[in-house]
Amino acid sequence: MKILTAVGTRAGLQFDFEEHLIGGACIDAHGIPIEDITLKACQEADAVFLGAVGGPKWDMLPGHLRPEKGLLGLRKAMGCYANLRPAKVFPALESASTLRPEVVRGIDLLVVRELTGGIYFGEPKTVDADCGIDTMLYTAPEVRRIAIVAFEAAGLRKKKLISVDKANVLASSQLWRKVVDDVAREYPDISLEHMLVDNAAMQLLRNPAQFDVIVTGNMFGDILSDEASMLTGSLGMLPSASLGGGAGLYEPVHGSAPDIAGQDKANPLAAIGSIALMLRHSFGLEEEAVAIESAIARVLDDGFRTLDILSDGDTLVSTTSMGDRVLSVLNGII
Ligand code: IPM
Ligand code: MG
Repeated sequence: MKILTAVGTRAGLQFDFEEHLIGGACIDAHGIPIEDITLKACQEADAVFLGAVGGPKWDMLPGHLRPEKGLLGLRKAMGCYANLRPAKVFPALESASTLRPEVVRGIDLLVVRELTGGIYFGEPKTVDADCGIDTMLYTAPEVRRIAIVAFEAAGLRKKKLISVDKANVLASSQLWRKVVDDVAREYPDISLEHMLVDNAAMQLLRNPAQFDVIVTGNMFGDILSDEASMLTGSLGMLPSASLGGGAGLYEPVHGSAPDIAGQDKANPLAAIGSIALMLRHSFGLEEEAVAIESAIARVLDDGFRTLDILSDGDTLVSTTSMGDRVLSVLNGII
């Protein structure tokens, strides 16, 4: 919020903020993970910035009352079917990854995750004492629209798209593959490769440099984006933008990190990076978005690290201090 306000001041814009509860905080206050007034406010906003949901306190609740349900409901209500999760390795963090620096050096990939369909939402979805059922369902229009987003994104990048599915086993993936192939005919300058998800999980660790844009379904995208985050050093580095409806929804890829809650230790860079994506995708403020990303890079170059990305010789800083450092560098740029 500090960063967004600063950018607004510099750009001569005034952002009006409204705050609403979601997840555990909303369950504690109102008994449900999100309220209708919140869904409505988000639908009417120009952009939505989301923290994270979930925690052990609410783990025993039944599915429809869990914090996660609030987030899924919000994504669905906003129509945000296209989730962009860029994983970029900052030069200063090459040795922060658990993989060797030469494996992650220069990695800059984009996971395009379908966000409002697939096994997260398919019906029937039921559980009783003996049987749990989820339904992996995709329709051709759902696949087509996410494929278009991915081909367009690839066109602005290295023109290389890898579509990830499990077409050797899953019927929904067979449809996925066919529809992606159909869309590919409209993008003759983009190279398309299909990859099975188990292989993709392995290839992301073996040779991540082969990836530019990955397009995949809801659950595979959830899993692969957490994996991709570790190329960058930490899940605390990955921002995301969810588009497709009217307003964009911006959130860090990570969860609420309940083990360090309230300790001023969490890495704020994924959240700050999500603000950069908001400026880029919702407000057309590309220069300001780049300024934020450069400020993050500079603070990392200067050796400041939160606990999750700390190596020998670095300076450990708190969440607040990391945010303030990005802000002060940013104030010098914009
Ligand atoms: C994510 C999260 C969510 C998801 C959870 C919290 C519902 O893991 O955004 O990746 O599975 O989509
Ligand atoms: Mg996830």
